[in-house]
Amino acid sequence: MSTEIQSIGVLTSGGDAPGMNAAVRAVVRSGLSQGLRVLGIERGYAGLLNEELHEMKSSDVSDIIQRGGTVLYTARCMEFMTEEGQKEGARICRKYGIDGIVVIGGDGSYRGAGKLSKQGINTIGVPGTIDLDIASTEYTIGFDTAINTAMDAIDKIRDTSSSHERCSVIEVMGRSAGYIAITCGIATGSDDILLPEVYDGDEQTIIDHVLQNRKVGKKHHLVINAEGIGHSATLARHIEEATGVETRATILGYLQRGGSPTCRDRFMASLMGSAAVDLLLQGKSNRVVGVSNGKIVDYDLDEALKMQKTMPEDWVRVSQLLLRK
Ligand code: ADP
Ligand code: F6P
Repeated sequence: MSTEIQSIGVLTSGGDAPGMNAAVRAVVRSGLSQGLRVLGIERGYAGLLNEELHEMKSSDVSDIIQRGGTVLYTARCMEFMTEEGQKEGARICRKYGIDGIVVIGGDGSYRGAGKLSKQGINTIGVPGTIDLDIASTEYTIGFDTAINTAMDAIDKIRDTSSSHERCSVIEVMGRSAGYIAITCGIATGSDDILLPEVYDGDEQTIIDHVLQNRKVGKKHHLVINAEGIGHSATLARHIEEATGVETRATILGYLQRGGSPTCRDRFMASLMGSAAVDLLLQGKSNRVVGVSNGKIVDYDLDEALKMQKTMPEDWVRVSQLLLRK
């Protein structure tokens, strides 16, 4: 163990994601087990600036691994976008004797961590977002729970859609990425999957598809629409007007962010939270933890933020091949 690192902090930032609690628990327990003092920082960077810090004992993270949300709360903080805010954050870290911080969040939170490391505080990022839109990792904490929650909701909508012989447009989250949409779309056998990465705004193709499905006797028609495309109610209206098939829009919204994390989210959060502490103990800073080829890896934070992520072509191809003809 490095002699320099004695106290670490942990915060959650940006949108909450199921499994963040498992990551917090992993940081706290892994740190304490290796002789560190661990401080929980509430409400992300906003809480850091407001000095909402408290020392955490092992028992403070008991009974949270199965809970959705984040016990440390989360926030978005404009003040931390400024250099003065970042300097103040570093000053507060020094005041509390914090040598390093684990930041659990999305790439916005990573940017904040990068700024803090430039102010001399060691930082390690852990990917926490339901969107799976962080380029430096194959896996983000919360994605698995979100897709299972959305899949369950879509299955339920399918029941009522079939009973009424309706078309349903179902909007899923994902910010500007379509990973939730493609995964749930394939897993629910949906008829059209609209991805921000691919969709060209051609509603006529969807309308033709609804009509063709009616001809072959299909009782329902499910369109999964990604949040990055939006306008689900308008699309539903256009489909109904053009086809005469009753069409309803459902925006799944925040229910996708809540709920008890799946086994995969808890497991991966535990591994990644623990890996972040190991990096701090090795004296590393300005790095992010991720998954590559199924293994836990870490990258330089600035390099990670430059990486690009693209929708796998085979996912899109398979979604087309599996449609009923
Ligand atoms: P996410 O981490 O889920 O991508 P945001 O993009 O909202 O969420 O970022 C979370 C917080 O991280 C912001 O509210 C802000 O406090 C901090 N942050 C984001 N970008 C920067 C930046 N360029 N510099 C400093 N802090 C940032
Ligand atoms: O990043 C997670 C996410 O739920 C996105 O899917 C969505 O675009 C965004 O957060 C919504 O953010 P807010 O909580 O600010 O409404």
